Amino acid sequence: MAFETILVERHERVGLIRLNRPKVLNALNSDLIGELNVVLDAFEADADIGCIVITGSDKAFAAGADITEMHALTYPESYDNDFITSWERLSRVRKPVIAAVAGFALGGGCELAMMCDFILAADTAKFGQPEIKLGVMPGAGGTQRLTRFVGKSKAMEMCLSGRLMGAAEAERAGLVSRVVPAADLVSEALAVAKTIADMSPTVAMQTKESVNRSYETTLAEGIRFERRVFQAMFALEHQKEGMRAFMEKRPPNFRR
Ligand code: CAA
Repeated sequence: MAFETILVERHERVGLIRLNRPKVLNALNSDLIGELNVVLDAFEADADIGCIVITGSDKAFAAGADITEMHALTYPESYDNDFITSWERLSRVRKPVIAAVAGFALGGGCELAMMCDFILAADTAKFGQPEIKLGVMPGAGGTQRLTRFVGKSKAMEMCLSGRLMGAAEAERAGLVSRVVPAADLVSEALAVAKTIADMSPTVAMQTKESVNRSYETTLAEGIRFERRVFQAMFALEHQKEGMRAFMEKRPPNFRR
């Protein structure tokens, strides 16, 4: 399928989506979000895809919601159409999704990256929620997700002042899982995605669901949830294969 605003590649069991509006630093307009959602639906339904990577260009993951598309909205248009809701498709993907961020990840770009399961950053990455400079505030989860990632103090400073955070600070603060040289970003992301895609898909999805549960519930409830899911894994052939392979000193084969 041909798209106008994204590029889609398959690397064995990994689906790679490149945001591709280079003239506007991958500003996120409704066409791009619509195309992204079509591909996310397709990858989600495809048993041959085990992990998804979303990346941008060397200069920008995405510089935010498209200001030219958004600037003239009235309050009723913004409220009634609730255009941000369509962005949330990404946060409901059940398969693991990695954001590979180089350059700017600002506003909605930072929010989109935070909807992924983890962020791998190039040393050129710059994160920020500069919406306040435009007379608005983050609208796609920035005030909530950034605060959970980096804590109140840093999130407040970034949302209130619009200050950007470089890759090293983002790693220290826990926003990104690790930083790699920009030239290696996509290959590193594909390598870790391949590792994940070679695991049991059922176990990977349930692991993702359990980690995400920690954001939604109390510690005691989260641990009870984890325990039930862990126990249920003993019904999986993949548990038998994984543990048998360990004892037989061979790599597991979760594709059978
Ligand atoms: N929307 C639309 N167009 C954008 C854009 C955006 N978010 N960000 C950049 N562009 C466009 C620029 O207008 C420019 O287009 P022209 O060449 O036609 O003038 C092109 O991309 C290149 O940008 P710059 O010339 O500004 O590049 P730069 O390297 O000098 O600066 C930048 C880069 C600091 C990222 C700057 O472009 C910038 O500040 N962009 C806006 C960032 C922002 O405010 N994002 C938040 C958007 S609101 C939001 O996301 C709401 C939400 O929470 C959902």
